[in-house]
Amino acid sequence: MLKDQDRIFTNLYGMHDRTLKGAMARGHWDGTAGIIANGRDWIIQQMKDSGLRGRGGAGFPTGLKWSFMPKESDGRPAYLVINADESEPATCKDREIMRHDPHPLIEGALIASFAMNAHAAYIYIRGEYIREREALQAAIDEAYDAGLLGKNAAKSGWDFDLYLHHGAGAYICGEETALLESLEGKKGMPRMKPPFPAGAGLYGCPTTVNNVESIAVAPTILRRGPEWFSSFGRPNNHGTKLMALTGHVNNPCVFEEAMSMPLREIIERHGGGIRGGWDNLKAIIPGGASCPVLPKDALEDAIMDFDWMRENKSSFGTGCMIVMDQNTDVVKAVWRLSKFFKHESCGQCTPCREGTGWMMRVMDRLVTGDAEVEEIDMLLSVTKQVEGHTICALGDAAAWPIQGLIRHFREEIEDRIKAKKTGRMGAMAAE
Ligand SMILES: Cc1cc2nc3c(=O)[nH]c(=O)nc-3n(C[C@H](O)[C@H](O)[C@H](O)COP(=O)(O)O)c2cc1C
Ligand code: SF4
Repeated sequence: MLKDQDRIFTNLYGMHDRTLKGAMARGHWDGTAGIIANGRDWIIQQMKDSGLRGRGGAGFPTGLKWSFMPKESDGRPAYLVINADESEPATCKDREIMRHDPHPLIEGALIASFAMNAHAAYIYIRGEYIREREALQAAIDEAYDAGLLGKNAAKSGWDFDLYLHHGAGAYICGEETALLESLEGKKGMPRMKPPFPAGAGLYGCPTTVNNVESIAVAPTILRRGPEWFSSFGRPNNHGTKLMALTGHVNNPCVFEEAMSMPLREIIERHGGGIRGGWDNLKAIIPGGASCPVLPKDALEDAIMDFDWMRENKSSFGTGCMIVMDQNTDVVKAVWRLSKFFKHESCGQCTPCREGTGWMMRVMDRLVTGDAEVEEIDMLLSVTKQVEGHTICALGDAAAWPIQGLIRHFREEIEDRIKAKKTGRMGAMAAE
């Protein structure tokens, strides 16, 4: 288990002073100008050496992403854009940084922007996060007043402005190119890639989009050294990570933990165990709604990291888990996610616009059992026709939970259809 002295976020629960004074007492903004004085190449190399992988869900190596930005400007400005949209169901980690421990994020924005030749950064915050925006804005104002932002920010010689932009509450605006469209004042619809944001992003200028946590961990990594960060987790899965437990655990919570810890240990230590004990576990969605569900049998030896989840046909995502006990109607749970993705599809590509609706309507009937057994494979085939055939990953996100459901709970779906046909439905509900 992660020791207190190795935690990056030491005010995650807002128990301590969250003002600049409190943040500085906890070690933030310590030697920021000195870090910047080491230069861009040094910062990017340290980030690469740390093994940090993006904390927004896809796990792309952060240092490598920063290195894609042009070294010399061709006349266009460069931008850092921080993704604080956090709309993935069950994901609720970035908000704790923003409302309780905002200074690592602000300091990280300065350092990361310097490393990418950007004099301005934007934080795009989810529409529903009103209090979080207020807390973060207060911290930004404080940083300006203290000379940590603005001209010669933190006496680093780098001029840097940080803007907080409030979204209107659409899940798709978390997708990085939809976010850029929205920031430009347009409808939040994903762009085709290429060009990638590092070539042509915000206002057609070189841009890097990073998750809140990816940026907020950077100053501590640079202060304590990449070896410290990479001492946690298995190779390719390094570092500490904010994770969350929601659903049927005794203590739902957000916490910082080392990567690659056994899942069961995480649930016992942080979540106080499964409601009714480990044997009452039915399934877990490991890292946000788009990650395929895994049943208890597959979870006995599970390790919370990118590679274990990928090898077991799910995904680590944001590390925010949805825990479901034996009482859960898992078909209905996945149906609810299908309804969510259908609602949030931006509609610009046909497989997603039509496919999310088809998938949801078949799921509607699987929940009640009003279907034919053959429709299970038909539904699976629809998910394959959506997956990989869309402009952005929302199509995949809608397909994967259903694929996971069919892979692991086909029998349960079939039983329900048969029960409906034989009039055994009431008996099933009582089981
Ligand atoms: C539909 C959709 C929603 C997304 N929502 C978020 C989000 O709320 N926050 C986030 O950081 N990344 C989100 N992402 C991932 C971003 O596109 C992008 O990969 C991420 O911000 C990159 O940051 P990172 O490299 O630091 O992880 C979403 C992706 C998709 C396809
Ligand atoms: S996959 Fe869906 S959400 Fe993404 S661009 Fe296409 S229609 Fe829009």
